[in-house]
Amino acid sequence: MAEDNKKGVILTGDRPTGRLHFGHYAGSLANRVKMQHEYHQYIIIADAQALTDNAEDVNKVRTNIIEVTIDYLSCGIDPAVSVIFVQSLVPELFELSAHYSNLVTVARLERNPTVKDEIKQKGFQRNIPVGFFCYPISQAADITSVKADTVPVGEDQIPMIEQTNEIIRKFHNLYGAKIFPEVKAAVSNVARLPGIDGSEKMGKSLGNALNISASEQEIRQAVHMMFTDPNHLRVSDPGKVEGNVVFRFLDAFDPNTSELEDLKEHYRRGGLGDSVIKKRLEGILIEGFADTRRIRRELENDLSYVREVLREGSRRAREVVAATLSQVRQAMGISYDSFRP
Ligand code: TRP
Repeated sequence: MAEDNKKGVILTGDRPTGRLHFGHYAGSLANRVKMQHEYHQYIIIADAQALTDNAEDVNKVRTNIIEVTIDYLSCGIDPAVSVIFVQSLVPELFELSAHYSNLVTVARLERNPTVKDEIKQKGFQRNIPVGFFCYPISQAADITSVKADTVPVGEDQIPMIEQTNEIIRKFHNLYGAKIFPEVKAAVSNVARLPGIDGSEKMGKSLGNALNISASEQEIRQAVHMMFTDPNHLRVSDPGKVEGNVVFRFLDAFDPNTSELEDLKEHYRRGGLGDSVIKKRLEGILIEGFADTRRIRRELENDLSYVREVLREGSRRAREVVAATLSQVRQAMGISYDSFRP
């Protein structure tokens, strides 16, 4: 993007299968709020991708498009600078996927470590929906459709970016036109937030998530239940900071790092009770996300505005994607200008 002072084009997004949680916030939302001013930022609400393993639950996906949009807006994503759009409202993406699918082999898809893990985790065995199996291709279509050069991802999504670059190279080699920039994975350097139960990953399907839209009461409850150090029985006992969910959260959200370091020291030494660190975290989450909760309440009473954001974002995205698709068809030699209806 030479014509303006932006650093490049970002494409990022989420499957709308539930409200977003603090793991999403620490891992990506905070970054998106910052990056939206430095980059052209497109945020895809990947409903079609969500349907690849939720075909029987369309209702869940549909309602969560709105929930996720409210989460974005309440966290500070600004629809005047970020383009928030709904994947299936940009049908050109499906055509891009169809053309790319001829550049990818079944063997290559089977080797994608992310898909492999997910297949295991979801217990599909051989009963994998074809759409699910092919979602790396559709994700490559999402990324290339706006000519993104930067995709902020967690470690686990790096194979998707590699596969996207392979598709881009193959396309350029076969059709001779260099349309797309190489895609860089911007791997976030924030540590992944654990679930409130202490397991490595916070996930809505794992039942250990705390949503950013949680009420004060829900935040108190979740913090109260958080896994700390099971051997820290008495206040005077020395405690472990590593693997302690309360400290992992404080690492992510406590603005006062020097006080936090002192607290860790004290906790390790003994003499600092769980209730003190939990009170501190509770206060930080309740106060630090008060605006988020307030904006959500306002938007819940103004759903026509939320829908307008999606309509306008999808319209803007569609314009850009249609232009890319037309270049793709041109490069492939299937523009059929002389007999196109
Ligand atoms: N795979 C992402 C998720 O699981 C959603 C997504 C769809 C996406 N297309 C994308 C992310 C393109 C980054 C780039 O939430």
